[in-house]
Amino acid sequence: MLPPDQLTEFDHLAHGKGLRENSNAQWRVARAPSGNVRAADFNWVEAPIPEPGRGEVLLKTLYLSLAPVMRAYMQGTGAAGERPLDVGDVIHGRGVAQVVRSRHPDWPEGSVVQGQIGWQAWKLSRMTPAERMTRMLPMGLPASLGLGILGMTGMSAYAGYMLCCDPDREDRMLLSGAAGGVGSIVAQLAARVVGCEVVGIAGGPEKCAFVESLGCRQAIDYHSVDVAEALKLSVPEGIDLYFDNVGGETLASALEHLRPRSRVLLCGSISEYARESPFALHNYTRLRVTDSTMRGFYVYNHLSDWDRAMTDMAQWIHEDKLRPHFTVIDGIENMPKALAQLYYGGNIGKQICRVRGEPEEWL
Ligand SMILES: NC(=O)c1ccc[n+]([C@@H]2O[C@H](COP(=O)([O-])OP(=O)(O)OC[C@H]3O[C@@H](n4cnc5c(N)ncnc54)[C@H](OP(=O)(O)O)[C@@H]3O)[C@@H](O)[C@H]2O)c1
Repeated sequence: MLPPDQLTEFDHLAHGKGLRENSNAQWRVARAPSGNVRAADFNWVEAPIPEPGRGEVLLKTLYLSLAPVMRAYMQGTGAAGERPLDVGDVIHGRGVAQVVRSRHPDWPEGSVVQGQIGWQAWKLSRMTPAERMTRMLPMGLPASLGLGILGMTGMSAYAGYMLCCDPDREDRMLLSGAAGGVGSIVAQLAARVVGCEVVGIAGGPEKCAFVESLGCRQAIDYHSVDVAEALKLSVPEGIDLYFDNVGGETLASALEHLRPRSRVLLCGSISEYARESPFALHNYTRLRVTDSTMRGFYVYNHLSDWDRAMTDMAQWIHEDKLRPHFTVIDGIENMPKALAQLYYGGNIGKQICRVRGEPEEWL
């Protein structure tokens, strides 16, 4: 949990702010964060609502995503292929939005899109490739899924696990960050779609119960036990696959349990993001002695598989093999607090912000 003094600081920041339909509420970078984000890192601006020119559309924000990478954006690093931010810039963030005015031949009014919206209530867009906009088709599912299973989080889980891990139902799999946005989808893909045995790692009893409800055989609560010790009991015969969302000591502990010819997939290293100096993996030679492979993956290099991934995932949702799990915060004014809480593991499943919510109609 975010320390009480910081919670108060963020509640003060949000006080008196909120969505107004006659202006464009935006959160901008006030200063580059050092360590976790603080209230003074954010600046609230109410800008005029822009008018689209030729080749442009006006997008009305429905939902915004919260993701660990946003702190890096605010620090001015060009993470995840996004332009580095300066002080005064609108903070990057993916969102789901509806085209309300269009002067662009390919994007009709009423269509719903997900892509780079930024922390703002309206966006003027030329729908450039850099914004990575995709049109969402209703498919009998809510638009909010564009930030979860049917968006970049789902694509990360699908690309990381289905495309890069060579999944096998005989796998004994270990998954860290199992209660997070990507992890909660990977857990279900592994346990319910592929049908292998999964042990998840998450923080706290509530999250561990959630991880087991996703189909994992067991969840290790890294807040209350030592992961290195717990793995000796939970995976006594070792693991064939480790899907890593957190890096650091947990990655090192997992390497101690590799079976011959096992795989390690580096998705994220959230436990390392606020470290002063990078974590040094001391036992990488475990890969050599077990004939194992460790690989990274970057979701944006797998977008050519987007349509196939979305079709598969929508079908698995309809078949009840995949269930969407969100932590929802209401109101664009609460985006900074939601981001700060992310690094304290405040979310179960994907953390999103409901700015306006579902569209009334959707083409
Ligand atoms: N390779 C790629 O292309 C790609 C794409 C998307 C995401 N990612 C990365 O994948 C990871 C997961 O992303 P996500 O969107 O699922 O994030 P998320 O929803 O915030 O989930 C991450 C989970 O990590 C846990 N966590 C937070 N701080 C931790 C710490 N210090 N030590 C251990 N666990 C911690 C939290 O759960 P607990 O409370 O249970 O700890 C949290 O629920 C991130 O590192 C992200 O940057 C990579």
